[in-house]
Amino acid sequence: MLRTAIASPLAARSLALRSVTPAMTVVAARHSSSGSQPQDTLQAVAAVKQLRPTSPHLTIFARWLPMVMSISHRFTGGGLSALFYGAGLAAAAGAGSADFVQAVAALPAPIFYAGKLAIAAPFAYHTVNGIRHLAWDSGRFLTLDAVYKTGYVTLGATASARSLCS
Ligand code: HEM
Repeated sequence: MLRTAIASPLAARSLALRSVTPAMTVVAARHSSSGSQPQDTLQAVAAVKQLRPTSPHLTIFARWLPMVMSISHRFTGGGLSALFYGAGLAAAAGAGSADFVQAVAALPAPIFYAGKLAIAAPFAYHTVNGIRHLAWDSGRFLTLDAVYKTGYVTLGATASARSLCS
């Protein structure tokens, strides 16, 4: 197929136009119109492709809040699942006794509160953001503006809900 595509400068140029960015097509078109061979055109395209950033090129996205909140929802969901399955299995294996509760209560205050924060914050975030997801599922708040506004409300509500747990 590639042989067919590079059978003529025109075909090579068309291949370049279909698969590359505007900047690359300019380079390819210059090569074609200068009478160079189709292989030269493809080599030029390949050379320009080397300059392209590797995908996923996250830093080019301007709308980072929805992206970060989306991946955070997945991470907190996965983390909570691991925590709750782990706690369930531990309980089934006989942990969770009065000794365990006493050991947790005896932890130094900074470690105790850091531990509570590490559990309460993702739980609060996932719950509030989960309600936001359910609102989207019902067809509400789907404009870009609303996605941002509900995002800020979610972050504010998460901070308040988390402080209730401290
Ligand atoms: C301990 C409690 C919870 C655990 C372990 C948990 C776990 C998870 C996990 C693993 C996912 C899949 C994430 C992904 O792959 O993208 C998820 C998604 C979701 N969770 Fe939770 N979750 C919990 C509590 C909640 C609560 C309280 C709510 C709502 C009030 C909620 C609402 C949602 C929603 C709506 C989704 C789907 C998001 C989407 O459409 O992509 N979750 N949860």
